[in-house]
Amino acid sequence: MASKIDKSATAVLSPSSVPLTTNKHLIRWVEKMADLTQPDSIHWVDGSKEEYDLLCQQLVDAGTFTQLNQDLWPGCFYARSAPNDVARVEDRTFICSLSKDTAGPTNNWEDPFQMRRKLKQIFRGCMRGRTMYVLPFSMGPIGSPMSQIGVQLTDSAYVVVNMRIMARIGAPVFAEIDKDTKRVVPCMHSVGAPLEPGQQDVSWPCNDEKYIVHFPETREIWSYGSGYGGNALLGKKCFALRIASNIARDEGWMAEHMLILGVESPSHEKTYVAAAFPSACGKTNFAMLIPPAGFEGWKIWTVGDDIAWIKPDATGRLRAINPESGFFGVAPGTSAKTNPNAMATLAKNTIFTNVALTPEGGVWWEGMTDTPPKECLDWRGNLWTPEIGRKTGQPAAHPNGRFTAPASQCPTIDPDWENPQGVPISAIIFGGRRPSTMPLVYQAFNWSGGVYAGATMGSEITAASGGVLGKVRRDPMAMLPFCGYHMGDYFRHWIKMQRTLSSTPRVFHVNWFRKGADGKFLWPGYSENMRVLKWIVDRVRGRAQGKETPIGWTPHFEDIRWEGLDMSEERRRAIFDELQTVDRAAWRKEVMDHEELFLALHDHLPPEMIYERELLICRL
Ligand code: GTP
Ligand code: SPV
Ligand code: MN
Repeated sequence: MASKIDKSATAVLSPSSVPLTTNKHLIRWVEKMADLTQPDSIHWVDGSKEEYDLLCQQLVDAGTFTQLNQDLWPGCFYARSAPNDVARVEDRTFICSLSKDTAGPTNNWEDPFQMRRKLKQIFRGCMRGRTMYVLPFSMGPIGSPMSQIGVQLTDSAYVVVNMRIMARIGAPVFAEIDKDTKRVVPCMHSVGAPLEPGQQDVSWPCNDEKYIVHFPETREIWSYGSGYGGNALLGKKCFALRIASNIARDEGWMAEHMLILGVESPSHEKTYVAAAFPSACGKTNFAMLIPPAGFEGWKIWTVGDDIAWIKPDATGRLRAINPESGFFGVAPGTSAKTNPNAMATLAKNTIFTNVALTPEGGVWWEGMTDTPPKECLDWRGNLWTPEIGRKTGQPAAHPNGRFTAPASQCPTIDPDWENPQGVPISAIIFGGRRPSTMPLVYQAFNWSGGVYAGATMGSEITAASGGVLGKVRRDPMAMLPFCGYHMGDYFRHWIKMQRTLSSTPRVFHVNWFRKGADGKFLWPGYSENMRVLKWIVDRVRGRAQGKETPIGWTPHFEDIRWEGLDMSEERRRAIFDELQTVDRAAWRKEVMDHEELFLALHDHLPPEMIYERELLICRL
């Protein structure tokens, strides 16, 4: 438990104001940025537990954090954001490459010179009355050849404590920087809420005007106005995907929006796969899967739930690391039934944001338990009861309410999750929410067919994302909001990767979300997805049969292990047939729908995409 600290003792000449690096460029940049933003003080983050406790106590004193009941939720804190700062802001996210053509039609582009002028203007004096934290972080295990280093300057203590869970931070990273072997990515962040002398702070400072800006050529990030999630924890989407996708293209590796898991068979054979599903399509759930009845002796190991950096090793085999060290997971829907591993992970040392607070000092969200608490405070801090919820239609937790929890606390965390060399990847899986057309699983005929399947991936628009409900939106490789350059060039990079490999991972497409005539999901999903995963592993290992269809190989009924599934033989056969149907007419329409994306990207598309499409049309 955090101890109360006499603040007067730490205010003057605190040791944290002394630079923790000998790197002159870094010190000069910090001085320059302090000159621009005018903070009251500078704090060099050492990353220690003492510092974390002190910052959490300061956040409690400021009203940002509520310490949860330590008997129920040891080491846990609770925060509510401002209602205008609850999620990533895609329309305020910019890729400022020198040429608009480099960013491509799927990104917001602004001229880098104009954007720099604008940023200088809004950052001027923006940290007045606040502390500027100098936060060094390593994405990936410190010292791993696959890791990358950044330094985030931020005026948010909330960001610092969240980053301590999500990334490796502090003194060991400064030591790495002092070796001067790796380029450091500068990451500027401000909540954009300076304080006048004597002005009372609010519990969640932020600004209505938000800018999430990336300069891919100079490898810089500038984020303004938000303190939440991917907008503010700059190691995650901004660095590990948008900037890293640029570095990866230049250096011959891949930065992907993918979970990584290991499948261990009863004979201890281990197979790792990486899977790309769009936001809110089940990455965290799949990464923490617990095998169902019928799979005694099988085990799933979790390496990562959101981001994978994948690189060929000296022998030409792809190996992957999870650059993060924590999970920033969606709370609503997470329960002991749907994801017991996530529940065990978040049981201690976790920061909860925008969920509900119970009278006993615990947290709650929709789907956590069958019966909601009699009363609680909702994510806005208002009284919420089941009746009020029914009457107003308002949930107690925000749909994007999240937990920040250390990966090391996950019961199924892989023994090799911090291996500096990464884990070998044998299969890549794509998937989205598709109510029709897409079978439960198919395997692409080859690498370029797999790249085509990923590039044309679609997912149903949900109520949360707005637009025409049920309409399928293209989200190539689940990277639409995260690829830091032209999407057509990104497909080309995928195609080119194969030439550097001695063995190519097999590529699969899955769909847990196909619906029957009654509008209900045909597939039970969650732990039952193990049955599909086993077929994938068997295919990779050259053990399972495949049936050739126009779109790729699919399993025969007998190729799937059904043992233990609570369903009659007739029902199993019926849903399997429905799930695996490849309807040629629907597929012809599907391929026509791919045209939209192809037209937008045409002048950068690799020829393989065109050939694959023609071949598919011929087979249909
Ligand atoms: P981000 O953190 O936003 O990237 O999301 P994510 O991809 O990690 O998704 P997550 O695992 O948090 O799940 C999102 C939603 O999909 C939740 O409401 C889950 O209950 C639901 N879901 C996950 N797996 C399945 C499944 O196999 N079947 C069905 N029907 N729903 C699922
Ligand atoms: C996502 O939206 O894919 C997330 C949440 O993982 S955030 O970190 O806010 O981007
Ligand atoms: Mn995600």
